[in-house]
Amino acid sequence: MNEAGPIGVFDSGVGGLSVLKWIRETLPNENLIYVADSQYAPYGEQPQDLIEQRAKVLTQFLIDEGAKAVVVACNTATVSAINLLRDNFSVPIVGIEPGIKPAVSLSKSGVVGVMATTNTVNSDSVLKLINRFADGRQVEIQPCPGLVECVEKLELNSPRTHQLVQQYVTALLEKGVDTIVLGCTHYPFLLPSIQKIAGNSVEVIDTGEAVAREAKRRLEDADLCSGFAVRGVEVFWSSQVHRQTQNTISTLWGSKVLVKSLSI
Ligand code: DGL
Repeated sequence: MNEAGPIGVFDSGVGGLSVLKWIRETLPNENLIYVADSQYAPYGEQPQDLIEQRAKVLTQFLIDEGAKAVVVACNTATVSAINLLRDNFSVPIVGIEPGIKPAVSLSKSGVVGVMATTNTVNSDSVLKLINRFADGRQVEIQPCPGLVECVEKLELNSPRTHQLVQQYVTALLEKGVDTIVLGCTHYPFLLPSIQKIAGNSVEVIDTGEAVAREAKRRLEDADLCSGFAVRGVEVFWSSQVHRQTQNTISTLWGSKVLVKSLSI
């Protein structure tokens, strides 16, 4: 492990770019490598053993590329494989989980909603988070199949996307939620639609910033901050590069980037 190495970040696809943005803001001088495992998205509908296998393969790839720490920018991969990764690799590994704790402390109605993929919704980890942090409040979990695919296709405003967002957010509003947790890193890209349907009185929580702060803390604890005086660079990889990939990643990232093809 070498402090000059990059921070490796991966997700089932392009959703983790929402976390990468926070990491860039929090750690401006670190070099970053991002892998979108779009060939296997959505992880939310994949069997556990495949998610574990992909998480291991991608973490190994990032470490081979020199990563000094790895951020699993995917709730589904975190709940499925974070312990396995920590058992198998010695670099600091930071995951992301639905922000139930901050949501509970913000909620005035006492009803909190969580939007997540099917696998995350059904995981023991989310059950444990609820048992640990619900503090007597009601936590309503809404599986949101189809939303990851909308973001993967860069259909942030299509009629199909609006219809799905409307369906899922309305189901939560009918249960009385005043706080909604985005339990999937793809969903921050749908925040304008989610907020519009939820209304301004509903607080929508993205855990990406907290993950970036945790990554910074872990680097500092392990004495792994780069100390570079200049702004870091980003390198982007995808396991499924097709005609639209450069445009999709460039649009979500916010500037034109080159995406390399990863065939593992
Ligand atoms: N961005 C991933 C997450 O945070 C999406 C998982 C999926 O591909 O279903 O859960």
